Amino acid sequence: MKVDAILGDIITIDSDAAVIYLHEDFQELDENIASADTAISGGISALISDGEIQGKRGEITIIHSFGKITPKKLVIVGLGKTSEFSSDLIRNVFAQVARRLRSIGVVSATTLIPTIVIDNLSMPDVVQSIAEGCILGLYRFTKHFTTNDVSNRELESLTIVDSNPLFLHTINESLNIGTITSKATILARDMVNEPSNYMTPSRIAEIAEEIAYEYSLTVEILDINEIRSLQMGGLLGVSKGSMEPPKFIVLNYIGDPDNRDNNLALIGKGITFDTGGISLKSPAGMMAMKGDMAGAASVIAAIQAIAQIKPKLNVTCLIAATENMPSGSAQKPGDVLKTFGGKTVEVENTDAEGRLVLADAIGYANYIGLKRIVDVATLTGAIVTALGDLYTGGFTNDQIFFDKLLKASNKAGENIWQLPMHKEYASQNKSQVADVKNTGGRKAGSIAAAQFLSEFIDDASWIHLDIAGTAESDSLRGYKVKGATGTPTRTLINLAIDLAQHE
Ligand code: BES
Ligand code: MN
Ligand code: ZN
Repeated sequence: MKVDAILGDIITIDSDAAVIYLHEDFQELDENIASADTAISGGISALISDGEIQGKRGEITIIHSFGKITPKKLVIVGLGKTSEFSSDLIRNVFAQVARRLRSIGVVSATTLIPTIVIDNLSMPDVVQSIAEGCILGLYRFTKHFTTNDVSNRELESLTIVDSNPLFLHTINESLNIGTITSKATILARDMVNEPSNYMTPSRIAEIAEEIAYEYSLTVEILDINEIRSLQMGGLLGVSKGSMEPPKFIVLNYIGDPDNRDNNLALIGKGITFDTGGISLKSPAGMMAMKGDMAGAASVIAAIQAIAQIKPKLNVTCLIAATENMPSGSAQKPGDVLKTFGGKTVEVENTDAEGRLVLADAIGYANYIGLKRIVDVATLTGAIVTALGDLYTGGFTNDQIFFDKLLKASNKAGENIWQLPMHKEYASQNKSQVADVKNTGGRKAGSIAAAQFLSEFIDDASWIHLDIAGTAESDSLRGYKVKGATGTPTRTLINLAIDLAQHE
């Protein structure tokens, strides 16, 4: 779908539907509603006094305009209490509105910018959220259906109508950013929703190459031979049981060429299917494991957007991609691996494979001098137990860096909750035969995993995001549709923009 802006009056601009708003605690009709109301002979105020329209959050009332105004339908949307207004509310409400319009065959819609002014929420943020809400709310993953459903009619355009010519440029700019961030999120969703027989390590590498080509990034795909010669023992160990060749993917955005140290590493766990390996998962636990590359998807998606928004810093994506399979050639519990940086790991459980491949990626980030590292991984079932699907678990060795990420995530509406790090947790990962082992017992599983990763960090500022709970949604909730969420793509984009502005 396309979002754009036009100068004029919503009542006289042609569309299938004009979307206007009402707050629950409104005192009097604001001028936009008032003029629509007058134009349709008091139809809105009549419904309000009947109690049919209350302005409750997400309430959608559709009335035919019967030729009294140019748009064919008027859609009155409740925004809830003024005090509860937020950019995420806008995203959620617009997702609902967009889906409703699509379901009744609306192809083109117009709308206004909600006029409410509140702290910490600027007009550009509201406009960006409108774009994100619509585009993300309309998302569906349909590529494998072969029958053509009649309901496949799409809402093709949403046009923001504004009467102030001075705002038009800003509105268009914000819509453009919102489109970029949403398309990136959709890329991540598509990759995660794609079955593992399509989304192989080689396919991820191909996508990275396509993005590099389209947005002028540099890309390097290390194949099995290069991975071997670099001695990435973690990635090699995990990939041993699979027929699919592993890939180590490096994508570079150079936004500050004169200042190479102004950099950010985005590391993604790219397990395209996690059977658990020889420490095999149960069938129920295995079902969602095509999504075990959600971290990789989100960092590729983020750099796609970053390449278009062009903040002044350098961003490098590192992705360790492989399947985790059981077979005659698979690694076994008790095996010892040597990771890229030289540290040895005892593989106590082959199902704790994410941290093995991430250890190599982190080692590589150190090696090429990356100063700030964010790794994103569907790392532990324990984080699902702790935080469910509402909050991503966050871990860090640098509180100031983490606080910047939190700000970026708040703006994106992607919740992150910080969990503690403490060196005493590290004792859980002590091995009798190697420098460290890859599991830490039943206690504090997500923290033990983070503590394991921290062993491989040199002096970089580092954040680990465990998205095992948030990468997918089991129900339709506003702009989060069922299936892959694309989290934390928009947080990472915001972080890159923020780091570029404040340094
Ligand atoms: N990919 C899983 C984590 C996961 C679980 C992601 C549920 C999404 C939903 C990860 O590789 C894994 O298997 N972790 C193990 C670690 C354990 C063996 C220490 C886990 O959490 O059970
Ligand atoms: Mn696993
Ligand atoms: Zn996994």
